[in-house]
Amino acid sequence: MQYYIKTFGCQMNVYDSQRIADILQNMGYQAAQTPIEADLIIFNTCHIREKAAEKLFSDLGRINLIKEERKQQGKETIIGVVGCVVQAEDEEITKRVPYINFATGPLTYYRLPEILQKIARHKNLCVIDTDFPAESKFDFLPENHSHGVCSFLAVQEGCNNFCTYCIVPYTRGVETSRPVEDVLKEAQRLVKTGTLEINLLGQNVNSYHGEDAYGKERDFAYLLRRLAEIDGLKRLRYTTSYPADVTDDLISCHKEIDILMPYLHLPLQSGSDKILKAMNRRHTAGRYLEIIDKLRTAKPDLGFSSDFIVGFPGETDDDFEQTLNMIDKVGYIQSFSFKYSRRAGTPAAVFPNQIPEKIKTQRLNILQEKLFSMQLTFNKNCIGKIMPVLFESKGRKKEQMFGRTPYMQNIHVQAPIDTLNQILPIKITDATQNSLSGIIVKQ
Ligand code: 5AD
Ligand code: SF4
Repeated sequence: MQYYIKTFGCQMNVYDSQRIADILQNMGYQAAQTPIEADLIIFNTCHIREKAAEKLFSDLGRINLIKEERKQQGKETIIGVVGCVVQAEDEEITKRVPYINFATGPLTYYRLPEILQKIARHKNLCVIDTDFPAESKFDFLPENHSHGVCSFLAVQEGCNNFCTYCIVPYTRGVETSRPVEDVLKEAQRLVKTGTLEINLLGQNVNSYHGEDAYGKERDFAYLLRRLAEIDGLKRLRYTTSYPADVTDDLISCHKEIDILMPYLHLPLQSGSDKILKAMNRRHTAGRYLEIIDKLRTAKPDLGFSSDFIVGFPGETDDDFEQTLNMIDKVGYIQSFSFKYSRRAGTPAAVFPNQIPEKIKTQRLNILQEKLFSMQLTFNKNCIGKIMPVLFESKGRKKEQMFGRTPYMQNIHVQAPIDTLNQILPIKITDATQNSLSGIIVKQ
């Protein structure tokens, strides 16, 4: 039996898909290279913006054609949908895609073995599971192993912030933190099976508050320090952090922990205090700048990235200007920017003064022009420098390797295959907005 998983959306979904693969491999399934070979096709879905959700339905239509094609060859195909779209749509999803066999939310996919058994017994059944279970899915998932030299590790899930634009608190539920020892065990296992870099994940990762072995609640800075003690772990990152929850102790970690990479994703969303308030963000632009200042004092070479939303309801030209000003003040080396997308069930979806699409597009273009040119300047300034690069896969060209610098920059280097999974000093020779090139420095 073969499986094929297609993943939409954020890094947490990438992590979930890997865990689904762990479950299936435990059941004897093998990974298929293409959907046509697969007996089981799973779509792991994202509901954060309308575009992502719409793309899912058109892609699912194509998968149904594959199911039909396989049927003509006498082969059965199970199609399942997992993730945030399922949690948001619930039973409604079967109206849009009646040919699916099961649908589970992001918190219940650990029940996949039972679900697949049920489907095997009752061929025409469509199993829908959108529970918010009392138990943690992490207690039921099989032991995982490294899926590559860079691994994601979920330490926290869900969100209590309820930003007024965001669907996540409704799809991933309220915040839960995994116990410290569980995280450490998973990290140790990953390192033992080949991981050199761990990227800690959570919707609001720095509000982590898991219990230690004695039942004492520990914060994110504590967790980072414990993880940094793991022998063989070379790089540590975390995402996504919430500005108001950046503590002084976390700032000290950036100074003290040498394997903590000098790159931090700290979403600002908007530079206008009026809009931040309407978004229900617990920070002002001024407070955000103070945090950036403190972080830069602790670690002067820290590079920042951020998420931005343009065209939030009520955003005036002046509010938008303030976002542009903040970008100038902070200086970002990478960014993710989006037009505000109305999500049914979130407070902002029914706010007055929704912004016309045309204005959102104009603002996004202006914003991205600024952000992209900053990114290009940062990358160009790297030319001539020597940076440690972790090679994580083969490049697209012959004898080319793909890796990442400490700043998460993509880099392509002419190098032999035995450099895979190694950290090597690379001299940067060229740069575009999205990637660098370089040569291996002879040691
Ligand atoms: N519209 C546009 N962008 C959104 N994000 C979250 N919800 C929305 C929405 N309704 C963006 C935020 C968040 C990132 C993951 O997605 O910038 O930080
Ligand atoms: Fe969504 Fe805000 Fe929570 Fe991030 S902090 S997941 S944007 S509600």
